[in-house]
Amino acid sequence: MLLQHATWPEVESYLESNKGIIIPIGSTEQHGPSGLIGTDALTAEVIGQRLGKATGAFVAPTLNYGMAQHHMAFTGTVTLQPSTMIAVTRDIVMSLVRHGFERIFFVNGHGGNVNSVKAAFSEVQSELVEAKGLRDGGSNHPPDDVRLELHNWWMGEKTTALRKSLYGDREGYHATPSEVAVTWFSFPEQKRDVELGPLEKIKRAYQGPEDFRKLFPDGRMGSDPSLATVEDGERLVLLAVGELAERYRQFLRED
Ligand code: NI
Repeated sequence: MLLQHATWPEVESYLESNKGIIIPIGSTEQHGPSGLIGTDALTAEVIGQRLGKATGAFVAPTLNYGMAQHHMAFTGTVTLQPSTMIAVTRDIVMSLVRHGFERIFFVNGHGGNVNSVKAAFSEVQSELVEAKGLRDGGSNHPPDDVRLELHNWWMGEKTTALRKSLYGDREGYHATPSEVAVTWFSFPEQKRDVELGPLEKIKRAYQGPEDFRKLFPDGRMGSDPSLATVEDGERLVLLAVGELAERYRQFLRED
């Protein structure tokens, strides 16, 4: 169920028996010569919305922008500053918590978001602790019942094993064949047939956007997205949704 397609009385009645919500979170950034700028947001949205269907959970609107500073030397990339990202994440979570959501499950499509989202979780937790101290008790939604989790859709044990078996070392770290496969499965009309250059080996850590482009001139990081297929994308989506659904159900039950 999409939060955007619900009415407020429907959300209110859902909250009588279910405190969980899923939030897809991505990025708007270059993904090499064949990957879509929206790859990270689209993959998180497709997987997050299917997860919502599988578990009967509400799915909040996708956060389409993320922390993509290191991709800014490539045209079309849009980034939030880490401090903006922390503030946006905090505001979304606190709004949902105010209404009584207690299990907030982020499905993430972009590794660069992890530090900022986790920092936002810390801010929320300290704010809730402080709020609890100021309260005189008796609330329907004790703030210490709030739980927050962030899951990178590609990092589950089985999903990781499938990625490895499909692509081995050619999976790489950015503009990976697995994320490209998920977008092609989801939006087959957007499939690109682009001749790619040789794989760039990762020699050292990059220092900001210009250096990133110097090390990885076409935007890929050690990945070979030409291996991606629509069929692989389907397998990855189904497996990732299954794994995340297992974790989400457990997350709802935990006290
Ligand atoms: Ni990506």
